[in-house]
Amino acid sequence: VEETLVLVKPDGVARNLTGEILRRIEAKGYQLVDIRLVEADLELLTEHYAEHQGKPFFEPLLEFMQSGPIVAIRIAGHRVIEGFRALAGTTDPTTAAPGTIRGDLGRDWGLKVQQNLVHGSDSPESAARELALWFK
Ligand code: GTP
Ligand code: MG
Repeated sequence: VEETLVLVKPDGVARNLTGEILRRIEAKGYQLVDIRLVEADLELLTEHYAEHQGKPFFEPLLEFMQSGPIVAIRIAGHRVIEGFRALAGTTDPTTAAPGTIRGDLGRDWGLKVQQNLVHGSDSPESAARELALWFK
């Protein structure tokens, strides 16, 4: 069965939204396989966001992701990779559709990097690579 990596980013943990995000994943019918609270270091985050190296928001993104604990979750289900991306909503929380995690719970705070509560792997290759990083 397909698996994906979900991260509740530091803004989600700080705003006490971990339970609400887990509730939505469970209500959708996906299975929780593993979960851990992580203080991510620079090495892990640089590997995780390798595709964004060189972009203007890369440094602020890594700084934000080190600003507090992250909840890493392994979830499973048929088509869970695209299914969780749909639950999360689009990247910009200002315009993410209502009904999604980012659309219902997120907003733009005018900071250097968009804080959008969650991460979900975007392909089978990303899911395999990221699960190996966060669940060694
Ligand atoms: P992740 O699940 O975190 O990977 O988000 P995503 O897949 O929806 O977006 P993407 O991988 O393209 O970007 C990773 C993160 O970088 C986003 O979640 C944002 O926090 C930030 N980001 C991406 N694009 C922009 C941008 O154009 N401007 C700013 N300020 N931040 C961005
Ligand atoms: Mg991404």
